[in-house]
Amino acid sequence: MIVDSTVQRVVLVTGASRGIGAEAAVQFGAAGAHVIVNFREKRKRAQVVVDRIIDAGGSASTLGADVSDPEQVTEMAAEIRQAFGRLDTLVLNASGGLERDADPGYALRLNRDAQVNLATSLLPLLPVGGRIVFVTSHQAHFIHEKTDVPQGYIPIATSKRAGEDALRALIPEFRTHGVGFTVVSGDMIDGTIIVRLLERRDPSSVESRRAAGPLPTVEDFARVIVRAGTNAAADGETFYVGGNDYLAAAEASRWSLPPDFARHQH
Ligand SMILES: NC(=O)c1ccc[n+]([C@@H]2O[C@H](COP(=O)([O-])OP(=O)(O)OC[C@H]3O[C@@H](n4cnc5c(N)ncnc54)[C@H](OP(=O)(O)O)[C@@H]3O)[C@@H](O)[C@H]2O)c1
Repeated sequence: MIVDSTVQRVVLVTGASRGIGAEAAVQFGAAGAHVIVNFREKRKRAQVVVDRIIDAGGSASTLGADVSDPEQVTEMAAEIRQAFGRLDTLVLNASGGLERDADPGYALRLNRDAQVNLATSLLPLLPVGGRIVFVTSHQAHFIHEKTDVPQGYIPIATSKRAGEDALRALIPEFRTHGVGFTVVSGDMIDGTIIVRLLERRDPSSVESRRAAGPLPTVEDFARVIVRAGTNAAADGETFYVGGNDYLAAAEASRWSLPPDFARHQH
């Protein structure tokens, strides 16, 4: 792999073999970064994402690792150090917990513990000006202000909010390294597998979101992730994508707003 890491931004997107992570990887590639496309098991899909980036004139490579396994994260960090010497942007996108074979503790292990482990393991590779972006959903981010989360999604939403809180607690450490941290939170994103599944299993949950306004697309969401991954504002700000009613609900309970509320709305 020949990467001119003196001029190219090196970006790792976790869980980039499909969905939002894949689109964010493609957009980072189009913006001139070298993109490391992380996947857990779908190597071929990850390679398709890399090929798309390269065919469009960009630069990318795959890197397989189950991010919930600390040993695999250690190996991933070592491989990035060896291949590139640094990492400019870490996008914490991979998420889960609804998998059929997932044990009851998996959601918290992946959505909180693994995110903290990734951030702390990769922090030594991030130079001054580096960026960490945590990707989440409004249902998780606003779980304390708007509680109409579909029953089956509650463990995921709770664990993702716990992940966000644990990462926010690390902001002083990120700051001492000169590394910025932002959160990108989105409404249900049209066209994703999870929304297509919900449309079959719990159609009213998707209908109620559509009734609140048009759902953002994968491209819309990815665009904001890319902006967050390079933006100058990076001290715990949250970038919101869609779902104005969530912002209104949080506004209504302003006394209990998260400290980062409404800095950026997209
Ligand atoms: N979908 C929505 O409506 C929506 C709305 C707001 C926010 N978000 C957030 O956006 C992010 C992406 O969502 P999505 O819907 O695009 O997800 P998705 O389609 O379910 O894709 C998940 C990706 O994460 C990877 N992954 C899963 N577990 C992993 C692990 N343990 N280690 C490494 N990679 C792992 C998968 O890789 P393999 O394919 O190799 O298993 C896949 O590439 C999530 O953080 C989600 O909370 C989604």
